[in-house]
Amino acid sequence: MNILVTGSSGQLGRAIEELSRNSRHRFIFTSQGADDVGLRLDVTDAAAVSRAIGDGVDVIINCAAYTDVNAAEDNPSAAYAVNVSGAAVLADAAASSGALLIHVSTDYVFDGYANTPYREDDPTAPLNVYGMTKLEGEKAVIASGCRYIILRTSWLYGCRGRNFFLAIAEKTAECPRIKVVCDQIGSPTYAGDLAYAIMHILDNGMTGAEGIYHYSDEGLCSRYDFAKEICDSLGHICTIEPCRSVDYPSRAERPHYSVLDKSKFRETFGLEIPNWKDSLRLCVAEMENINK
Ligand SMILES: NC(=O)c1ccc[n+]([C@@H]2O[C@H](COP(=O)([O-])OP(=O)(O)OC[C@H]3O[C@@H](n4cnc5c(N)ncnc54)[C@H](OP(=O)(O)O)[C@@H]3O)[C@@H](O)[C@H]2O)c1
Repeated sequence: MNILVTGSSGQLGRAIEELSRNSRHRFIFTSQGADDVGLRLDVTDAAAVSRAIGDGVDVIINCAAYTDVNAAEDNPSAAYAVNVSGAAVLADAAASSGALLIHVSTDYVFDGYANTPYREDDPTAPLNVYGMTKLEGEKAVIASGCRYIILRTSWLYGCRGRNFFLAIAEKTAECPRIKVVCDQIGSPTYAGDLAYAIMHILDNGMTGAEGIYHYSDEGLCSRYDFAKEICDSLGHICTIEPCRSVDYPSRAERPHYSVLDKSKFRETFGLEIPNWKDSLRLCVAEMENINK
């Protein structure tokens, strides 16, 4: 299959690029700015997207997004442009060409007032601009009439880019004491695991299983637990103190509980999902390799 990936310079895009090196499929990697990852493609440019997809692309994997949750509060139009208009442009191009769109979305479409894992058909009610634009993006994909698989994921991290893992790695290396919120519960997801899950769908001829799916690593923890595990795995000496979100205000409100129920994904695609602690160890090993 011919597979076009958008947002290839991001953490998920790069993880897919790494796995693609051993794939039988032909990948076309695109990004809006970076020169080191394939062709330039701004997903909000309908003419350019239509040219890039043409008739020969079988699957589009949309990893492009405006992901700065706090900045989105002050720049809603910038977040809307990529997360809604960009998703709509790709979906319309997929509808015209017959390509399947694998579109990545987020746990932040939920308000976090639940206390059991969210299923795909649970009511959505985003708390922040980022979540609202991602939800509108999902709706645009569905409304386009294209063939789609929407994968909602959570707390994505890896060795590159901007993410919680790297932020905590840096802070615990520099500071003797930090505070981390203990009242946001979710599931960290290693970008390499989500990339693997997408490859699993492509490699096993499961692209006909259209719909919305939840995918995160197994297990759950608070941001505080995650930070402690990161610090310990890296061997850093730092005291991490738990605090509440109200005592650590940030620009965007975040859900207190955003654990995703992965039963539908597991049952449909038959993939064993790794536990977040095991994947964290892989990520730490990958980082040590990069820093050698
Ligand atoms: N990060 C998380 O914690 C998290 C959690 C749940 C769901 N997700 C979702 O998972 C997906 C992948 O996230 P990620 O963490 O890999 O994101 P990321 O590292 O922030 O990368 C986003 C990518 O999108 C690109 N991009 C932005 N605007 C674009 C445009 N107009 N045209 C083309 N590309 C554009 C960026 O390029 P530049 O770098 O050149 O701007 C970058 O390559 C996204 O859909 C995100 O919403 C992420």
